[in-house]
Amino acid sequence: MTDSLLAVRGLSKHFISGNETVPVIEKLSFTLGQGQSLALTGRSGSGKSTLLNLLCGLEWPDAGTIVMQGQVFDAGRARVRGTTEAWSALRRQHIGVVFQEANLMPALSLLDNVRFRARLAGRDPKNSEDWLTRLDISELAGRYPDQVSGGQRQRAALAMVFAMEPALILADEPTGSLDRHTSDEVIRELFSLQVRYGCSLVLATHDAELADSCQHHLDLGHLSGV
Ligand SMILES: Nc1ncnc2c1ncn2[C@@H]1O[C@H](COP(=O)(O)OP(=O)(O)O)[C@@H](O)[C@H]1O
Ligand SMILES: [Mg+2]
Repeated sequence: MTDSLLAVRGLSKHFISGNETVPVIEKLSFTLGQGQSLALTGRSGSGKSTLLNLLCGLEWPDAGTIVMQGQVFDAGRARVRGTTEAWSALRRQHIGVVFQEANLMPALSLLDNVRFRARLAGRDPKNSEDWLTRLDISELAGRYPDQVSGGQRQRAALAMVFAMEPALILADEPTGSLDRHTSDEVIRELFSLQVRYGCSLVLATHDAELADSCQHHLDLGHLSGV
């Protein structure tokens, strides 16, 4: 993969369980090009969510380097003053995350959720309504998250992510809580918008068919790099 947007080198992460050290990610290296999609597969517990959490800063790596858009996050230097702030800003502005359950703010309407995410990324929120229209939920703009279905919440989550004009989308089994039909519809929207707007995508899934829709594939069950 050339013109890399994201480069991961020697990334490692372990957890402590009782007296045991459980290695989850071990010396993982891969690169992802601008506009490219990568499927993360592997059995439950193989580290898909952990890797996504490392990439979006929810977990701290033990070792290794993540380079995104030329900015280096190095586990060894991460505690040096200033480096984590720069990395946080990069994530806030350029990385959109979609979880299995839509993580919307319950006290905000769907439209205000989208506006909020756009502003957080430093984008003009004026296009937020257009994003709801593109995701086919414009008539639900004034509703609150608990007043719409799971599929509609996930559409709103996608509208939030695209409204921030991300360079990279991290999706963790984003339709895992939806029925097959709704899941297929939401995933189709995700792929179509990702291609149209040229952002890169890392998608954790246990669905082999879905993984085949991505250009690249990393099977954490076998701990091999791409
Ligand atoms: N915060 C944590 N503390 C301890 N162990 C964890 C933690 N998060 C994940 N793990 C363990 O790390 C392994 C990988 O988990 P996870 O990344 O959630 O896998 P996947 O998403 O592929 O199902 C599992 O064995 C899990 O129990
Ligand atoms: Mg997971």
